[in-house]
Amino acid sequence: MKISFAEPSLPKSGALVLGVPGGNKLGIVAKEVDKATDGALTRALKHSSFEGKAKQLLDVVAPAGLALSRIVLVGLGKEDLSEKEQADMGGRVFAHLAGVSEKTASVAVDFGGKDQRGMATQIAFGAQLRSYQFAKYRTKKRPLKKHSLSALTISVKGAATARRAFGALSKVADGVFFTRDLVSEPPNKLYPATFAREVRKLTSLGVKVEVLGEKQMAKLRMGSLLGVGLGSRRESQLVVMQWNGGPKTRKPIAFVGKGVTFDTGGISLKPPAGMGDMKWDMGGAGTVSGLMKAIAGRKSKANVIGIIGLVENMPDGNAQRPGDIVTSMSGQTIEVLNTDAEGRLVLADALWYCQDRFKPRFMVDLATLTGAIIVGLGHEFAGMFSNDDTLSERLSAAGETTGEKVWRMPIADAYDKMLNSDIADMKNIGGRDAGASVAAQFLQRFTNKVPWAHLDIAGMAWSNKTDDTVPKGGTGYGVRLLDRLIKDHYER
Ligand code: BES
Ligand code: MN
Ligand code: ZN
Repeated sequence: MKISFAEPSLPKSGALVLGVPGGNKLGIVAKEVDKATDGALTRALKHSSFEGKAKQLLDVVAPAGLALSRIVLVGLGKEDLSEKEQADMGGRVFAHLAGVSEKTASVAVDFGGKDQRGMATQIAFGAQLRSYQFAKYRTKKRPLKKHSLSALTISVKGAATARRAFGALSKVADGVFFTRDLVSEPPNKLYPATFAREVRKLTSLGVKVEVLGEKQMAKLRMGSLLGVGLGSRRESQLVVMQWNGGPKTRKPIAFVGKGVTFDTGGISLKPPAGMGDMKWDMGGAGTVSGLMKAIAGRKSKANVIGIIGLVENMPDGNAQRPGDIVTSMSGQTIEVLNTDAEGRLVLADALWYCQDRFKPRFMVDLATLTGAIIVGLGHEFAGMFSNDDTLSERLSAAGETTGEKVWRMPIADAYDKMLNSDIADMKNIGGRDAGASVAAQFLQRFTNKVPWAHLDIAGMAWSNKTDDTVPKGGTGYGVRLLDRLIKDHYER
């Protein structure tokens, strides 16, 4: 779908979308259109229950007097919408137009309160995000019907400003789509080496990409990460991405992702029901990769490190056993009592490596880490655990603006104690209680006191229902959130 911006003028064909702030008051363009159609809008309003409430839609098909296929009135509910509400509206408009097989459409933005250009930009962003499809594995036998909409024009006064702002946001959407693609891929196609190969392609955007194999990781003594991959025929990989958009002297910020390309649980095998979901156990790594694509695409002025630990967790004659003790890169030993608590083992070495090599201002890790966080927060918030209030507050704020929300959860010494082992420095599981906090506590032992936040995205990486800007499937959660965090605080 091609998205463009233009100065206000009435389209000659296709669909025209108009916003109604509420109370059935028509805007300037709407009044003009009403006149040109001999009152078609006034009549349609009179005979419908549409009142301009948020999320209401009124479709006036083929009005006389104009060569348009339809006029769609969209309820806004109020004048001033938040960015998220604006993008959501864009997503809903896209879905409606695609649903009625419209090919070209124009949204006339003469609403949106103080900042109509911002409104136009977000509508475009939302429409683009909603248009995502993962069609790769649908063959001619059962092809996925492609969206009909090929051109969407947003008309607004001062279109150039909106066009420029959207230029950057469409790069963010590219990043989100990259994450969704990675998360959607099946585990026989996407495994550590092929994942690394996809990430290497970011080189063309100016991202520096290094891929470490098992030999190199063994040299670095990453016994914790490597233990997880022992049962797999696929070689584990650690991918290091660097984007240097800021001055050389500025310390980088860092993002670390769990990339378990398939999690069977290992010898502590998971039950069969729902195991297929564990193809998206690389969601954290997917988000970090998408984030790097987004910030490189929009040429962010920040210095950003992305590190992803890629492993496949399989049972096998060579697999790690419950009871094994591994030595992590930090030198700390870990008694692996449950091979299904593998994400923390991967992140332990990735986090340690990150702070050791890059001395970042902070680290944020993302991981589909625990089922417990889904019990606690469902699919509305990612769980956030942090040793730093400033970082937490900034993440919460970015979550509110983008709609990719986080909720801070506790870490505490009492949870940390649950990890003490009789014969090693720690165990990789606590008891049944507070599973998400205990997991966070485990990670904290590998942060070396660097400001850090852990986002448990187990409930967020995948969705079984379509949302305004997120079709069901891989969500790309976190790319918008972290792009916003960087944009608001780390580009100066
Ligand atoms: N990848 C899972 C967590 C998960 C569960 C993600 C459901 C998404 C949906 C993780 O590796 C895991 O197995 N965690 C265990 C930890 C337990 C053994 C301490 C869990 O949550 O049950
Ligand atoms: Mn697991
Ligand atoms: Zn896992």
